[in-house]
Amino acid sequence: MSVLSGKKIILGISGGIAAYKTASFVRLLIKAGAQVQVIMSPASCAFITPLTLATLSKRPVYTQFEKDFGEWTNHVELGLWADLMIMAPATANTLAKMANGLCDNLLLATYLSAKCPVFFAPAMDLDMFAHPSTKENIRKLKSYGNIEIESAYGELASGLIGQGRMAEPEDMLQTITDFFNNESTLYLKAKKVVITAGPTYEPIDPVRFIGNHSTGKMGFDIANEAAKRGADVVLITGPTSLTTTNDSIKVVKVLSAKEMYQACHEVFSSADIVIGAAAVADYRPKVVADQKIKKNDEEFTIVLEKNPDILASLGAIKTNQFLVGFALETENEIEYAKSKLKKKNLDLIVLNSLNDKGAGFGKPTNKVTFIDKDFTIFPQELKSKEAVAKDIIDQIVKSYVE
Ligand code: C5P
Repeated sequence: MSVLSGKKIILGISGGIAAYKTASFVRLLIKAGAQVQVIMSPASCAFITPLTLATLSKRPVYTQFEKDFGEWTNHVELGLWADLMIMAPATANTLAKMANGLCDNLLLATYLSAKCPVFFAPAMDLDMFAHPSTKENIRKLKSYGNIEIESAYGELASGLIGQGRMAEPEDMLQTITDFFNNESTLYLKAKKVVITAGPTYEPIDPVRFIGNHSTGKMGFDIANEAAKRGADVVLITGPTSLTTTNDSIKVVKVLSAKEMYQACHEVFSSADIVIGAAAVADYRPKVVADQKIKKNDEEFTIVLEKNPDILASLGAIKTNQFLVGFALETENEIEYAKSKLKKKNLDLIVLNSLNDKGAGFGKPTNKVTFIDKDFTIFPQELKSKEAVAKDIIDQIVKSYVE
């Protein structure tokens, strides 16, 4: 039996050509045993008829506030009835209204009243999809905890090729089936997760710096994974060539440890979870020359002073935040990692051992061990960094949320 059996689902349809696909989507949901209440925006009725969807869903379809004989459609009741709401297709117009609290039709009023998880499947032409306002609206919706079912790249109704095709009904069905199968995996909904990534560059003069080999990959993978799980992600990163895969991630670019420290402290009070994956330089040149240093002498000495320990400084002032740090050790790994966990007042530490082949800087794979606050040790297998990012988020969900 499908996990969707008996689930109450509102399908919200807005006015785009992809609305024609909702007929098969309703059939799939009904076949899986779900109860489906279709609500259509007035514009969508030009693309597919309420009669078709009422027949397939075996329920009356709602399109407006007034029913027959002066009765009104109770959008608050509908919003409370549903176990899940899915807006598909979600047009640029409807996304903009959802993101900004407009409710000039029954569908939007129901969305605003809904207490259940809300999914949305954007569908529009590529230029509309690429427009910064659409991107911003999607980011906003995700920050409210709504979950995007990403649109696909391909042929669009305009004849152009690009991103903006609504996900196929089978894929949307799979996404919500996965959601019900494993609700806890999405539990980062509306949580603010701050992640540090990459190296820091410590300036010597206007053209030189002290840096390290960190590529930032681990931190970026964690950021992408957290965003996938519905978190509102701020990624504070040192110099790297990487980009995020999820536009909802707010990227703050910094150069030095001092700048990273400042950026972290600016967002810390509103953060729920902080993950320090950056390879922060421990020291910086005490004096930064104003001009390029000339090579006059045979020997040249740079005096270094200690950088602030960003995670430790957050650990010292934390209230409810869940703090995660990394440790890269070459000997007495577990003992050093435990003492770091305590000293920095962390809730979880991810230990990379350089003794493990495939772990560490610049490698696509990593082998880690988790140690939680109670010093329980969870060794993991060697995996791709993407898979390790998933494990890290799972472990955080287990330790923090459950
Ligand atoms: O003390 P150690 O450098 O081994 O600690 C590593 C952990 O602490 C990592 O999570 C790293 O991001 C963080 N860290 C930091 N600020 C520093 C040094 C390390 O936040 N100055």
